[in-house]
Amino acid sequence: MHLRPRRNRKSPAIRSLVRETVLSAADLIQPLFVHDGTGDVAIESMPGCTRWSLDGLVREAGETHAAGVPAVVLFPAVAESLKSPGAEEAWNPEGLVPRAVRALKEAHPELCVITDIALDPYNSDGHDGLVERQADGSLKVLNDPTVDCLCRQALCHAEAGADVVSPSDMMDGRIAAIRHELDSCGHDEVSILSYSAKYASAFYGPFRGALDSAPKAGDKKTYQMDPANAREALREVMLDESEGADMVMVKPAGPYLDIIARVRETTALPVAAYQVSGEYLMIESAAAAGWVDGRAIALETLTGIKRAGADMILTYYARRAAEWLRE
Ligand code: PBG
Repeated sequence: MHLRPRRNRKSPAIRSLVRETVLSAADLIQPLFVHDGTGDVAIESMPGCTRWSLDGLVREAGETHAAGVPAVVLFPAVAESLKSPGAEEAWNPEGLVPRAVRALKEAHPELCVITDIALDPYNSDGHDGLVERQADGSLKVLNDPTVDCLCRQALCHAEAGADVVSPSDMMDGRIAAIRHELDSCGHDEVSILSYSAKYASAFYGPFRGALDSAPKAGDKKTYQMDPANAREALREVMLDESEGADMVMVKPAGPYLDIIARVRETTALPVAAYQVSGEYLMIESAAAAGWVDGRAIALETLTGIKRAGADMILTYYARRAAEWLRE
C-alpha cells in the first residue's frame, strides 16, 4: 500500500499545514438584542443571550470587539405601545436603533455596526412588511408600499451612522430602492448586506420569542423562501447583485450548506451565512443536558459553514467562539 492519506494527518504540525479552512474571529458577526429599559435582561427563549440596555449594549459590543469580532448586528425589542400597523417607529430618528448606533459608533468607532432592515419589530402585525386584510379575512403582505418604508428605515439608520444596512424582509426590489435612496441622500458609502436567500424556517422560533415579534396571524411563506428550493436562491442572489447589494446572505446556515456552496459558485460577492436562533439553541440545549460537548460542536458547525463557502458568519456564538479560538 503506497497511497496513505493518513500521512497528512500524522501530527498537529502537518495537519495545520494541510488545513483547508481556518475559522477566525475576523469572520464572525455578533447579533445583539437591545431594549429601551434599564438593566440587562436574560432572554428566556434564548439561554445565554441578553436583551441589553443601551449602556449594556455599548459595554458588551466593546468586549466583543476586543475579543476580535469585527462587527455586530442590532435587533431591537420594541415596546408594544410603539408598534403600529404602519410601523412608523421603524424610521423614528430618536428610536432605539438610531440611538444605539450613535452610542456604539461614538464609543467604538472601529466597530462595524450593522442594522437589520425589516418592519417586524415595529409592526403590530408582526410581519416584515405592511399587511392588508383581504375581503376573505386572509392577510396580504404588500410589497411596494413596504419597500418605501424600508427605504426610510435604511436612511434613518444611515443617518445615525450605521456602516452596513441589512434588509431581512425579502420584499422584491428593495435592494435597488434602498441603494437609490441612500445614494441620493449622500450615503453612497453605506453598504448593503442583503438577506438574499432567506428561507421560511422553523429555526427562527426562539428569535421571535426573544423580540416578541412572531406574526400575529399567518406565516411568512409568501415572502420568505420555500426550504425545498435551491435554484430560486441563485435567482434571488443574481437579482440582489444586479440591484447593487455589496454582500449576500444565506439564512439559516447549517441546514442550507448546499445553498451556501452553490451561492459561492454563483457570485463573486462576499457571502454571509446566518447560524440562526434555532441552530444555536439545539446546540445549547443538548450541551446543557450534558449530551454533547457544546464548545466543540459550535466550532465544528462554524467551520462547516465556512468550508461550505461563507466568508462571514452571523452567530450567537461570535464572542464566545472568538474567545475559544484565542485559547
Ligand atoms: C426578521 C428577522 C428574523 C431573524 C432575523 N431577522 C426572524 C424572522 O424572519 O421571522 C431570525 C434570526 C434568528 O432566528 O436567529 N426580519
